[in-house]
Amino acid sequence: MLGNFSYSNPTKLYFGENSLDYLSGELAKYGKNVMLVYGCGSIKKSVLYDKIIKNLKDCGKAVFEDGGVMPNPTVEKLNDGCRIAKDNSVDLILAVGGGSVCDYSKAVSVSAYCGDDPWEKYFIRFEEPTCKIIPVGCVLTMVGTGSEMNGGSVITNHAQKLKIGHVFGDEVFPKFSILNPVLTYTLPKYQMVAGIFDIASHIMEQYFSGTDDNTSDYLAEGLFKSLVESSLVAVKEPENYEARSNIMWIATWALNTLIAKGKTTDWEVHMLGQAVGAHTDATHGMTLSAVSLPYYKYILPYGVNKFKRFAINVWGVNPAGKDDKAVALEGLKEMEKWMKKLGVALSLSELGVKAGDIEGIADSTLVMDGGYKILDRAGIVEVLKASL
Ligand code: NZQ
Ligand code: ZN
Repeated sequence: MLGNFSYSNPTKLYFGENSLDYLSGELAKYGKNVMLVYGCGSIKKSVLYDKIIKNLKDCGKAVFEDGGVMPNPTVEKLNDGCRIAKDNSVDLILAVGGGSVCDYSKAVSVSAYCGDDPWEKYFIRFEEPTCKIIPVGCVLTMVGTGSEMNGGSVITNHAQKLKIGHVFGDEVFPKFSILNPVLTYTLPKYQMVAGIFDIASHIMEQYFSGTDDNTSDYLAEGLFKSLVESSLVAVKEPENYEARSNIMWIATWALNTLIAKGKTTDWEVHMLGQAVGAHTDATHGMTLSAVSLPYYKYILPYGVNKFKRFAINVWGVNPAGKDDKAVALEGLKEMEKWMKKLGVALSLSELGVKAGDIEGIADSTLVMDGGYKILDRAGIVEVLKASL
């Protein structure tokens, strides 16, 4: 394990079919005013909205609703949410939805009282909050981002063509998250598989870096294998509880800081994907799937041993009689076959990107320095062109 680190995760999880039963116990810990945050309508197509409202009323809460949080929440929406939170002196923000709703709620929690422009402060200058932070609780309905147990918050600024994430500290993690796999059954297949690839990408971002023998990498391989197994069941049987519950649990552990401990990490695929998102507003997981294979083929020569290990340990490639690079490439070929079975985007053109958009997307791409190869401008453009 590299370096010195501490580990704790402050989010309390309630997992399983009956996990919503624990909401009232959590609500009792906070004051009367609750801001109920949700997305663009899915919550009202099931009984979930009614159940949550009843729960809140039974607990004697005053409810201030903030619906309409769009996928890839925007800075304009964030400013509106801050007004609702502040005007009503909310004591708790209850996020009911996917990563966008959870991320947005965290952004509101640190921005309502920040006394500054939150976009500039947190997403451009990457400063930490010094103001009052409103506690957040989550009821998760879409699986993938890990936002239910981390400090991440990603906000999009369409005017500036930037989509940027800030990873906040422990004090911004949700205080509790309710994870009921059954709530994810209603997800359209497109969203389900996008979420599955998002999980895969989170694992790979933390795996494809470093050359040391590291326990975090073994954890990552185990999570990835379980994801492949369960995802192939879930695409055929969306209401298979065993598969959907495994996927939900893998998503949480793939990005709750555990598998990044004591190692270097990359995150360049996310920087490319977020730049694509800033220009297209495409679904997050699909932006990642579209650029991943070209990116990994580009950096593979600089990290052959790890890609070989991935091929053997995750995809069961037999290395006998083959050179290292051939084994490594076979692993990526196996991953491509899996991606095709899922039905995720394999090119940027599927997301509406045209050749003329590449330079602009490259302008919006941040460069990370933890992976096997630090991309320069030419490298970014080459990967994006190969992804078209
Ligand atoms: O808005 P509604 O109507 O609720 O519909 C949503 C939305 O259209 C729908 N949905 C959610 N639960 C559903 C459902 N539809 C039917 N049944 C349900 N049970 O799904 C669509 C997508 O939801 P969204 O929350 O946008 O998806 P996701 O969870 O993938 O979140 C994406 C956002 O999270 C950020 C992404 O960049 C993106 O902005 N990320 C956050 C991270 C973090 N906090 O650490 C890390 C990730 O890498 C990611 O960047
Ligand atoms: Zn992601």
